[in-house]
Amino acid sequence: MSFDRVWTDAHLCTMQGNGLGVIEDGAVAAKDGRIAWVGKRADLPAGAAETTRCDGAWILPGLVDCHTHLVFAGDRAREFEMRLEGASYEAIAKAGGGILSTVRATREASEDALVAAALPRLDALLAEGVTTIEVKSGYGLDLETEARMLRAARRVGAARDVSLVTACLAAHAIPPEYAGRRADYARHVADAIIPAIAAEGLADAVDAFTDSAIGFTPEETAWVFDAARRAGLPVKLHADQLRDDEGAALAARYGALSADHIEYANADGIAAMARACTVGVLLPGAYYFIRETHLPDIAAMRAAGLRIALATDLNPGSSPALSLLLMLNLGCTLFRLTVVEALRGVTVNAAAALGLTDRGTLAPGQRCDLALYAISRPAELCYWIGRNACVGRVVAGA
Ligand code: NIG
Ligand code: FE
Repeated sequence: MSFDRVWTDAHLCTMQGNGLGVIEDGAVAAKDGRIAWVGKRADLPAGAAETTRCDGAWILPGLVDCHTHLVFAGDRAREFEMRLEGASYEAIAKAGGGILSTVRATREASEDALVAAALPRLDALLAEGVTTIEVKSGYGLDLETEARMLRAARRVGAARDVSLVTACLAAHAIPPEYAGRRADYARHVADAIIPAIAAEGLADAVDAFTDSAIGFTPEETAWVFDAARRAGLPVKLHADQLRDDEGAALAARYGALSADHIEYANADGIAAMARACTVGVLLPGAYYFIRETHLPDIAAMRAAGLRIALATDLNPGSSPALSLLLMLNLGCTLFRLTVVEALRGVTVNAAAALGLTDRGTLAPGQRCDLALYAISRPAELCYWIGRNACVGRVVAGA
């Protein structure tokens, strides 16, 4: 066998099967950017050009952050102060703050400024072992700014060693020029924004925020999803974050890649998601930061066999989180996920949430995206609060 590169003296979490797929004292070999061989070091066939000894580190598939709003201008620290003085996330949004204050800042920002602001945030995630990231628009709410955000996202991805996929979230909030005309804006998203964004190849998926108070109704969301279908783009949904709007069932009906947040999703909706192979993306950073108290129904998710992912939801309003490792800890402490659930949630299931089947596990034929950690057991990745134990990161075998 001939390999380009081999990693030895490592323990592996292959994520094969239903658990962590642990191989102690293992080795991984790469050829042409793909994993060519994985197994016990003692069984490694000869044929490596370059061998990296890992000093007993643990190797996981490169982490996947499957839900971020990485590209935005400004911040919402002032709004954070207001919340500390008693205002709620929803009340601030209804008063024209919240998402709309980031929309104002983003509309004023150049593409260069958006790229410059996003890069250090991306670097923080990459330093923890992230090798694939999803980035949404949604702070433009007009064609020009949505397109600028997505172009900025593509540039940010090209500037670093990372796979970056995009989602058009034009149906994120009602822009000021459509105040009181929510349905008209939803039609505009469906009839004008999605087709134009798709024609330029700027989006890999379409997202929306279904919420009866500050987002879109299920019916309006369906118009946007129908437009995505016409454009040949998969869909995903911010669903049941602040109340049960039957978002989980809607996402399942459209065969969505994922339904995200889902704190208030009911058991029927969760079961429908599982049947539709829609991944449930939990966002404990947002749950924590807006001090939500309604827990996602993890028992129903387990009973339905739902695939669960974890992501940062990195955004200026509800989750200014620059650490996917911290989400592992929050997912376990707040939602009582097991270590296996949490770690599968940032690897194989997060890849599934993006429709990517070529990563998220260590297996022959997969992309050779690896994250190396100086830890003594996988649980440490969930256990530490604010420790980055990442000591290496490999993208496509390099
Ligand atoms: O995922 N739920 C809506 N969207 C974002 C929040 C965006 C913001 O507050 O700027 C979320 O939590
Ligand atoms: Fe989000």
